[in-house]
Amino acid sequence: MKYIICYLFICLLFACKTAGNQDWKSADFGPFKLKAPPEWKKMKLQGFDSYVGGLTNGIDTLTFDYGWYSPEVDLDSAGIYREDTINGLVALIGITEGMTTRSAELEIFLKDEKNRFFISGKDLQDLPTVLKIFKSIYFPYSDTTINPPLVMEKFHRSSSVMQGRSLYKFNCASCHHPHKQMTGPSFAEVFKYRDKEWIYRFLTNRDSIKSDSLTIAFQKRAGSVTCIRFPELTKIELTRILGYIR
Ligand code: HEC
Repeated sequence: MKYIICYLFICLLFACKTAGNQDWKSADFGPFKLKAPPEWKKMKLQGFDSYVGGLTNGIDTLTFDYGWYSPEVDLDSAGIYREDTINGLVALIGITEGMTTRSAELEIFLKDEKNRFFISGKDLQDLPTVLKIFKSIYFPYSDTTINPPLVMEKFHRSSSVMQGRSLYKFNCASCHHPHKQMTGPSFAEVFKYRDKEWIYRFLTNRDSIKSDSLTIAFQKRAGSVTCIRFPELTKIELTRILGYIR
């Protein structure tokens, strides 16, 4: 009997929880869709080089950027952050606490290598709703069966700078210096020409990129040493390394 009551209680809880989201509407933004409460309306914004837009309920506003140059979650300025899976895609969420409001940023690592996806809201009054909207975002190749609930306890204090430092020291520092030329080029020089996406492919899947005149120049300078391949490196690890050395 005790178990039945318990079971009923869990069902009730679950029913209440889903009832709260029942009137949420699906909004189609083209490359992706999301769900939001009915009072949230789409906004059109003028994009430069990428597809930008947003949605608002008049109090809180979210804007997104989908394209090759989209921004990234800034782990250093985020107060707390976590890695997450949103409908089967790896994502990074950063939250910054203000005096009375909170700002939130989300970056979803897409399977198509040409585009990045970033959505954020500043000075939010209703963070829980915004996080639920984040969790509802899906792309044509997303898998809605893989969407674990987002629990605030799993957010880390931003010690990512330290993590970036140790990843860098362990894997890259023997050949690269942030500002000085060593066996490998300085990262300051590399960043002038390469972005994260390109560096990620260079490190994890080098055969998929054509070597250009810059790579050839770097290789000439290095003699017989070439950069190590890191097929296991994740985008989040690379984000941390770059966040530290930038
Ligand atoms: C054993 C030494 C060594 C290690 C360790 C190493 N690299 Fe390199 N790296 C090089 C050399 C040499 C080059 C230039 C020649 C080449 O492209 O292979 C290079 C080139 C690069 C380039 C520029 C490629 C281009 O053509 O623009 C990037 C970016 C880079 N490395 C990132 C990293 C990162 C990030 C790490 C650590 C996760 C790392 N490397 C670890 C030696 C190394």
